[in-house]
Amino acid sequence: MKAVRIGEPATLDSLEPFETDAPPAPGPGEVQVRVRASSLNFHDYAVVTGMIPAATGRIPMSDGAGEVLAVGPGVTLFKEGDHVVSTFFPDWIDGSPPTTSFSGVPGDGIDGYAREIVNVPQMGLTRAPKDYSLSQAATLTCAGVTAWRALFVDDNLKPGDTVLVQGTGGVSIFALQFAKAAGAYVIATSSSDEKIERLKEMGADHTLNYESTPEWGKEVSKLTGGAGVDSIVEIGGPGTLNQSLDAVRVGGHIALIGVLTGRAGKVQTAKLMGKNVRLQGLTVGSRAMQLDMIDAIEANGIQPVISDSFPLERLADAFRHQESGEHFGKIGVDI
Ligand SMILES: NC(=O)c1ccc[n+]([C@@H]2O[C@H](COP(=O)([O-])OP(=O)(O)OC[C@H]3O[C@@H](n4cnc5c(N)ncnc54)[C@H](OP(=O)(O)O)[C@@H]3O)[C@@H](O)[C@H]2O)c1
Repeated sequence: MKAVRIGEPATLDSLEPFETDAPPAPGPGEVQVRVRASSLNFHDYAVVTGMIPAATGRIPMSDGAGEVLAVGPGVTLFKEGDHVVSTFFPDWIDGSPPTTSFSGVPGDGIDGYAREIVNVPQMGLTRAPKDYSLSQAATLTCAGVTAWRALFVDDNLKPGDTVLVQGTGGVSIFALQFAKAAGAYVIATSSSDEKIERLKEMGADHTLNYESTPEWGKEVSKLTGGAGVDSIVEIGGPGTLNQSLDAVRVGGHIALIGVLTGRAGKVQTAKLMGKNVRLQGLTVGSRAMQLDMIDAIEANGIQPVISDSFPLERLADAFRHQESGEHFGKIGVDI
């Protein structure tokens, strides 16, 4: 079967398509999946470029969707032909995160979904949304669940609340869609005026270019009559968090998700305290959160935004496209 592995050193140029044996028949509790699609996340980019060290030869990609080829003894959740989606933390079923370790994360601590056939423990999968193609289903594992948790698990978004989403990557576009479906106002930012037009088409109520308006936190505050927003999906990290602290309302929620501007930096801790802000770090979510998100997707007819797709053999080009920042929402991989 076809697969792609990380080279030594890990770079986009060393990302290598190769042929390998298909796995044996699924063992007890395992499901054998013909993977049809994956999608790119910043986390996958960090792994394949060596920012996050992974074993040489590791098969990348946390996200996978496909059809069940066979089930092993004791499998009760799935049957041959079912459409399934991978989970980010196969051992995190429900409740609080069991660990801070990524040692069990596909495409990082263990081999991921950049391959045609894989055996997975049944609890490492969920059903796919009805009426979703497998390419659409493969966008949910990381970006979808992260946006869902930020708004509805760690925060308690209500109709009429105001949400700020940053940029037009996978997490942020899902957050925009989920927030609009929940009846919230959305303020969205981008570095591109062209992408801002697309954000408006998707229902963003206010938009800001974060490059031409570097002090966008104060602008967001003005847009809300000085009150600030209820909920922020913070994907930038140290370079954006201080703006988010200007933008958030007293007692508002900031989901600290991303590292796009770095991994450490100065934070206005007095403002954090004085505004009684609820700042919550998060890493993706549990299988139970993924199932709740899928129910909501079906009830609201939400379709993921996939701006570009590449075949598995061109995975390195898919990451080069992500690196260029030209994408909007998700980049898909056909397998
Ligand atoms: N903690 C978690 O569980 C978790 C889960 C998923 C993702 N993440 C993190 O969240 C971040 C986004 O991930 P992703 O997969 O959605 O990435 P992505 O699809 O590659 O999105 C990147 C987009 O982010 C925007 N961006 C870049 N720098 C920005 C800045 N300074 N301010 C605002 N927007 C900026 C850009 O949008 P424009 O082109 O519109 O400017 C860019 O296109 C990454 O740091 C990733 O590691 C964390």
